[in-house]
Amino acid sequence: MISYAAAVLIVIFGQISMMKPTFKRHTITAALPYTNGPVHIGHLAGVYVPADTYARYLRARGREVAFICGSDEHGVAIAIKAKKEGKTPQQIIDKYDQIIRKSFQDFGISFDNYSRTSAAIHHQTASEFFSVLSDKDIFDEKVSEQLYDPEAREFLADRFVTGICPHCSHSSAYGDICESCGSSLNATDLIDPKSTLSGATPVKKKTKHWFLPLEKYEGFIQEWILDQRKKDWKSNVYGQIKSWIENGLQARAVTRDLDWGIPVPLNGAEGKVLYVWFDAPIGYISSTKEWAAKEGVDWEPYWKDKDTQLVHFIGKDNIVFHCIIFPSMLHAHGDYILPDNVPANEFLNLEGDKISTSNNWAVWLHEYLEEFPDQQDSLRYVLTSNAPETKDNDFTWKEFQARNNGELVAIYGNFINRVAVLTQKYYEGNCPSGKNLTVLDLETLDTLPLLVQKMESAIEQYKFREASQQMMLMARLGNKYLAEQEPWKKIKTDPERVAAILHTAIQITAYLALYSSPILPYTAEKIKKCLGIEDLRWDSANQNFTSLIAEGQQIQSPGLLFEKIEDHAIELQRTKLQKTKETMNETPSSTANKEEIDFESFMKMELRVGKILSAKAVPKTEKLLEFEVDLGFETRTIVSGVALQFDPETLIDKKVTVLVNLAPRKIRGVYSQGMLLLAENSEGKLSFISPADPAMPPGSEIS
Ligand code: MF3
Ligand code: ZN
Repeated sequence: MISYAAAVLIVIFGQISMMKPTFKRHTITAALPYTNGPVHIGHLAGVYVPADTYARYLRARGREVAFICGSDEHGVAIAIKAKKEGKTPQQIIDKYDQIIRKSFQDFGISFDNYSRTSAAIHHQTASEFFSVLSDKDIFDEKVSEQLYDPEAREFLADRFVTGICPHCSHSSAYGDICESCGSSLNATDLIDPKSTLSGATPVKKKTKHWFLPLEKYEGFIQEWILDQRKKDWKSNVYGQIKSWIENGLQARAVTRDLDWGIPVPLNGAEGKVLYVWFDAPIGYISSTKEWAAKEGVDWEPYWKDKDTQLVHFIGKDNIVFHCIIFPSMLHAHGDYILPDNVPANEFLNLEGDKISTSNNWAVWLHEYLEEFPDQQDSLRYVLTSNAPETKDNDFTWKEFQARNNGELVAIYGNFINRVAVLTQKYYEGNCPSGKNLTVLDLETLDTLPLLVQKMESAIEQYKFREASQQMMLMARLGNKYLAEQEPWKKIKTDPERVAAILHTAIQITAYLALYSSPILPYTAEKIKKCLGIEDLRWDSANQNFTSLIAEGQQIQSPGLLFEKIEDHAIELQRTKLQKTKETMNETPSSTANKEEIDFESFMKMELRVGKILSAKAVPKTEKLLEFEVDLGFETRTIVSGVALQFDPETLIDKKVTVLVNLAPRKIRGVYSQGMLLLAENSEGKLSFISPADPAMPPGSEIS
């Protein structure tokens, strides 16, 4: 327990260190989800829960907020899905727009407006935006050779073509991006391209497109983000932008030959539409306009006033679009503000594997609620406390159960429930007097504002995991206090003391309700109602301890706040995933596909255990690492193309499998003597082959 004097000092210090520029209003955006499938826990953890927590926090503090989202309904992915299912794109987007909207509503994602990019207001806004840039002569108009499917008689934009990534050799990169190494690509860069429409090998054909000359905005981005050294930006975001700039930006086509999308508003552009990544972010603006019209307010300050804080919540695969391309568009247009921050998250994996819509490796939000009805806050809490803020994280059902049962039920819920029950039992539900509080009670209460301040500062820095820990600390504090004070033992002998204890505990309950609201909105609402403090504002008590519930105030029991999750419910979920995994493995990628060889051929290979002594990047290459490998009898230099997948430092001392008698080769000026063997899964993830017994000495023969 912090002593009283120390607590006061921290309070003062805390106030000084927390000064932040205050904005007049906040435009909070959450990435517009593609309407080609439902949303899953990865979306929730990476984007929508953090964005909602932030928006709720700001509103609780009385700030003006526009929390904006909508469905992203154009683009090739949707056109492909429609073709595959024999439906029109409109049918596809109508279906998923409904499902997604409902999921967000059901999880309490408190958008002020959720629009659609198929809405008239968006078509108009995006067209106009394009026209402004076109009138300012921003675009380069270029006739270039694009891939064309001679069978389907269509140009193959983006995802209509797959092939080998020229950067990492991943076998199924798309025409716009390689999901394995994250490189952004042009379809014509792909090696051995194939049309996803017909399977045909595309031919090149000339077509005209409009390009945003990103190379001209390098200086602007450099100055805006890098030279200003936006230290408060997350390092994963900052690092990605930096490397994009260092590699040099290239012009990007912002139009496509496609029949689904927003028509390019120019003569001579018939049959062409805006590139989905050009129109979608403008969707934030259209959605704001739609909202403002409904509310009868002016939308413009939300996008044009320097005193507005614009924050984009996104996943890491969207960083380049929100930190380079969209800001360049806004800058080129000239009327708009730029984002104050883009707190992009990394990815959430599921039970050790990458979440995949196409493999059905996901926990879908609508399905979760069927199996855990009314337990939104449990999922919100687990996703927040395990959010992929600085690195990819894993969601497991076991951890979900452990956190729900061990933290929400056993600590938070238990504490509130005990307070309500005891107050009912001893005082007929009226808050007892606080006139005999001891030093210990006061010290306990004085800790509360400290936790609140830590929570505030964490949320303002987009560290929602940390905020959830502070919230849980508050519940722990209450739970521990009650367990130590044991009012149930003292009620007969010392009723005056019990009054002080419950008075104190009720104040903690009120703090919990008030300050959990951004993280556990449903729970906080229930408790507030029972305490009769629905109208209390966040700032009612955030500097020094303030009593929130007065003597005599009537309080009710909120009932069961969190349900214990039993083993069988978890087993059910795990079995369901296991089944998915079995169908995933039925795909033929695991069957042998090289010609048969005889035993002698195999025996020609000399394979040995090697120990990595050092690893470093080969200068001026992206993919190559140079290794020194101890083979027991000698040390060899070996070059391997794994730099994109591994951090060299983590490989030191690893035991690996080495093909020792491979003819030496000079690779980028380095003499490589041998080969390191690796396993690769269907997603392109690599793993070195290590002996099962790590004690096998270097040089051990493998046969
Ligand atoms: N639909 C995109 C995705 O799911 C995100 C679009 S964000 C916006 O990755 F900025 F374009 F709106
Ligand atoms: Zn790649």
